[in-house]
Amino acid sequence: MIAPVRESWGTRAGFLLAAVGSAVGLGNMWRFSYVASQGGGAAFVIAYLVIVAAIGIPLMTSEFVVGRMTRTSPARAMRQLGGRAWAPLGWLFVLCGFGILSYYSVIAGWTMRYAFDAVRNAIPADTAGYFTNVSSGGDAVVTHLLFMGVTVFIILGGIKRGIERAVLLMMPLLFLLLLGLAAWSATLSGAAAGYASYLRPDLGKLLDGNILTQAAGQAFFSLSLGMGAMMTYASYLKTRGDLGRDATVVAVSDFSVAFVAGLVVFPVIFTFGLQGDVGDSAVGALFIALPAGFASMGAAGAVVDTLFFVMLFLAAITSAISLLEVVVTAAMDVLGWSRRRTTVVFGGVAMLFGLPAAYNTTFLGNLDTVVGNFLLILGGFLTAVLVGHKILNRAEAELADGVESVALRRTWAWLIRYVVPVVLLLVLLNAAAPAWAALKGLVTFAR
Ligand code: TRP
Repeated sequence: MIAPVRESWGTRAGFLLAAVGSAVGLGNMWRFSYVASQGGGAAFVIAYLVIVAAIGIPLMTSEFVVGRMTRTSPARAMRQLGGRAWAPLGWLFVLCGFGILSYYSVIAGWTMRYAFDAVRNAIPADTAGYFTNVSSGGDAVVTHLLFMGVTVFIILGGIKRGIERAVLLMMPLLFLLLLGLAAWSATLSGAAAGYASYLRPDLGKLLDGNILTQAAGQAFFSLSLGMGAMMTYASYLKTRGDLGRDATVVAVSDFSVAFVAGLVVFPVIFTFGLQGDVGDSAVGALFIALPAGFASMGAAGAVVDTLFFVMLFLAAITSAISLLEVVVTAAMDVLGWSRRRTTVVFGGVAMLFGLPAAYNTTFLGNLDTVVGNFLLILGGFLTAVLVGHKILNRAEAELADGVESVALRRTWAWLIRYVVPVVLLLVLLNAAAPAWAALKGLVTFAR
């Protein structure tokens, strides 16, 4: 069958915003500030930035290079570049896409529910009980299906008229909401105490190796690496350009959003004395503690509550479309189906895959541990080995189209060849035991 001409972005800004939209997601709002406050505050933030520069940007550059070089779905690109032995990596990407989408959509469904309810009713007094009601069971199934429906709708429009149009509209709105909320948060009486608790530097914590691997894992998830999402977006590039600079722009934007989200959240928690409600998970901070704070502010609180969850929804949907697009582009390539048919069928499959996570939050957590904390990093590690050790010369030649500096290209090659694989291997070893335990949990649930 003759492949139709591959779609492409209308503008470079469209590509960049789509990539930023993929990176900026629930992980930024939900995990970064929490992990930072636990892991050494400002000291953690600096370590995180070093990891983003040494691991995140080189790997994202590699994904961009592979995408633009092959102009095909990552599932097929792996085979094209590495031969038959590398084909399974392409399928690992698709599996990760399904896996993450299936629980990501459930959490995103909660944000929709929160945003809707905040417009209609007063915030419930018992936010913990409310969270229990909406986060699993029939309610969670409905919001998960609705969220997937919106994702499918955008993907049906294709690259230019679907994804590009959506991100051009949504990302500026997201930035605006975030800055507005941060400004409002700064006026709260507990702002100083909140910032201090978020960022109080604790260098000692960095000596704990676990924190560094946690930072690497967080950077990785937050930047949407390891499953061909960035590769997919770059495969729709027609124009030439500096891919290293693009990766830097995406990484800096992603970090900035995560950092500022912490500046929104912590003042609220300290102003309303909610430290106890944060619990031991970041989900608790977002979905239980924050609404409790908003509730005690009356009408103004309801407005802020709505804006906050609309912002989370925007962050989630622009990430979910890139997750589904990885699956859709692979299926279009391999099966030769139309976008429409592929999107409807595989969107439907993703809806089904999400049901267990919608029924059971323990299942959801286990899936996150297996796919989000382990398989993604495995995918990134293998990508670095492929690019750094099998096709380095070709990749460097592709990068040279846009990156003129030889020194920069050499630095990139050195990082992707040695530094990235070694660090990711360490992270993998660290994540193996929890991932194994979580996998057993998933299997038990299935029985
Ligand atoms: N980066 C997203 C976030 O921070 C989550 C994510 C991880 C993702 N891997 C992805 C999104 C791949 C799209 C594609 O929430």
